[in-house]
Amino acid sequence: MSAEAHRYAVFGQPIAHSLSPQIHTAFAEQLGIRLGYETIDVAPSGFADAVRRFFDDGGLGANVTLPHKEAAFALAQQHTEDASRVGAANTLTALVGGLVQAHNTDGSGFVRDITERHALDLRGHDALLLGAGGAAKAVAWALLDAGVKTLTIVNRTPERADALADAIGEPARCHTRYWDGLDGECFDLVVNATSIGVTGGSFDLPMSILQDHGTCYDLCYGTASASFKGWATAAGTHYFCDGLGMLVEQAADAFERWHGQRPDTDPVYDLLRQRF
Ligand code: ATR
Repeated sequence: MSAEAHRYAVFGQPIAHSLSPQIHTAFAEQLGIRLGYETIDVAPSGFADAVRRFFDDGGLGANVTLPHKEAAFALAQQHTEDASRVGAANTLTALVGGLVQAHNTDGSGFVRDITERHALDLRGHDALLLGAGGAAKAVAWALLDAGVKTLTIVNRTPERADALADAIGEPARCHTRYWDGLDGECFDLVVNATSIGVTGGSFDLPMSILQDHGTCYDLCYGTASASFKGWATAAGTHYFCDGLGMLVEQAADAFERWHGQRPDTDPVYDLLRQRF
């Protein structure tokens, strides 16, 4: 079968620097699967048409990144539970009859990275989540599924944090605070799901909120994780993880969905880690 018959892509804007082609190609080589994986740069106004063309032309699966995750969810005819509760999709799969299924692997990729690669058992933790955007939503549900004792969500725009906590609907375990209302609180896990590291801004949070030996996890990686790492280090974090592992794991979850085989993520992670 020709490589063209197995067509996959990642949609985004910008997308030129996406690592997804490299990751999926490496997984495929590992398992002896032939595929073509391309990047498709498209503006929001052209996204739905571009996706439709891709699937009409024989595309089998697509990853979706900023700023299209919500539009990807909206255009699909079928939605998995992981996509539905986040209201956004990073994985689109062609179904028989020309239908498209929306799925979201951000939450599962995050949990797999933190529990398996970093060997942190999430059960019983008091977690603080910074942010309430698309990535934060996926992580919030995943943290609760993984058994954290409490989840506190703060966001610059507090209404978005409240809406997320309301959607989760577990007031005994999951609640919100104001960004500047964290004095006196203490957490043993702080997860950054804001885009501060990309867009600029500072983590003006009290250092005292991080418990001794606390863990900090940044969904960003590379230079974008420098600012949160700076805060975490100053606050005395025992263990800091960036989001490179989550990137590889969320890709592996999509790959397994499409190809029915689970790749070994460690060699791909190790290779990328040499660059980031
Ligand atoms: P993503 O899908 O990557 O999560 P997003 O939906 O745009 O992207 O969310 C970005 C998150 O970073 C939001 O929680 C945003 O806060 P707002 O909801 O108030 O916009 C947060 N964020 C971005 N810049 C920020 C800044 N300078 N300070 C604090 N939070 C910031």
